[in-house]
Amino acid sequence: MNIVCTIGQQQTTVMTTALEHVILVDAQRLYVTDEHVAPLLSRKPEGLLVLPSGEEHKRWESIERIIARALELGLGRDACFVGIGGGVICDMTAFAASIYMRGVSVDLVPTSLLAMVDASLGGKTGADFNQVKNIIGTFYPADHVYICTETLQSLPDHEYRNGLAELIKHGFLTGEAMVERLETSREALLRRDDPRLLEQLILESLQVKRSFIERDPREQLGLRAQLNLGHTFAHALETLSGFSGWSHGEAVAWGMARAAEAGVLIGRTPPAYARRVEQLLRDYGFRVDYRIAEDDLQEFLHIISHDKKKRSGSVMFVLQSGPGETVLTTLDESIVRTVVSSSRTV
Ligand SMILES: NC(=O)c1ccc[n+]([C@@H]2O[C@H](COP(=O)([O-])OP(=O)(O)OC[C@H]3O[C@@H](n4cnc5c(N)ncnc54)[C@H](O)[C@@H]3O)[C@@H](O)[C@H]2O)c1
Repeated sequence: MNIVCTIGQQQTTVMTTALEHVILVDAQRLYVTDEHVAPLLSRKPEGLLVLPSGEEHKRWESIERIIARALELGLGRDACFVGIGGGVICDMTAFAASIYMRGVSVDLVPTSLLAMVDASLGGKTGADFNQVKNIIGTFYPADHVYICTETLQSLPDHEYRNGLAELIKHGFLTGEAMVERLETSREALLRRDDPRLLEQLILESLQVKRSFIERDPREQLGLRAQLNLGHTFAHALETLSGFSGWSHGEAVAWGMARAAEAGVLIGRTPPAYARRVEQLLRDYGFRVDYRIAEDDLQEFLHIISHDKKKRSGSVMFVLQSGPGETVLTTLDESIVRTVVSSSRTV
């Protein structure tokens, strides 16, 4: 099954295939990957650029290397850059494609679960600069996204869990059917040994993302912001922990549980749904019961009040009243304090 996502004038076609089929002998293609993913390629295309892996290499120097390799290969305006890797490689390859000769086409082959369900679709490209995350970038959707689920076999467990949190988030955002499938398929999903299930859930997850980005491509209507379910709490936790000890996905899972509790406190979320959200996340092994220690609480509240995704000066939280029923709202500090605090006195 193919998914076509239309963003403005641009269409991205998503399809599932085997990794060996995405390497074409074509002089006008530049393949970009990283050192962990390169060994998965059974054929090494000519001119393949292998970058060091990791967020610390998501920077301008890597963009320069991509552009330098394209020049070396003599690629013209009809070239296609193909990024094969996690979100870092996908974001950077698409960014470089968007500025090389004022824009050449880009195909993405996401190889981490996070990149499959999230980073490869939607047109956001970029790199970090002066240690500010994603501060440079463009809006430039890929022409094709190829999902090759066999690549997930070599993905380290913590990276897989990072993507799982986003996949589960898409389930909560879309509705009952996907939440139920996540509840009933947990063991197989954690074992990663059922390619059909993986494909089905990844495509379903991408359809959820598509439905938000097609309706609000540039995040102007507050719809695409619903994709940030759990993220306001998560970003504050990641910042508080100095980006160590909590991966983004683990923090998002914790944040979704806090959003469910906050929803109950303000009467938006039925307690039974909040319990269901927390139980599902707990069953997948996420640390939903973690609380912020008293000594760190003030700092946490300070960080959350400076969330960079404020709208009209207010920090927004994504809450739900049920699967697929989502609202964006502000929360009083006392509510935030209550749901994150270990003493829970307010
Ligand atoms: N553009 C978007 O809309 C969007 C959305 C979400 C995240 N992102 C970006 O995505 C990045 C995070 O993506 P990520 O979590 O994939 O990180 P990543 O690209 O750093 O990949 C995680 C690690 O897994 C390795 N890896 C990837 N695929 C592998 C495989 N099949 N086998 C073995 N190892 C493999 C990588 O080498 C890396 O070490 C961030 O920079 C974030 O800003 C972008």
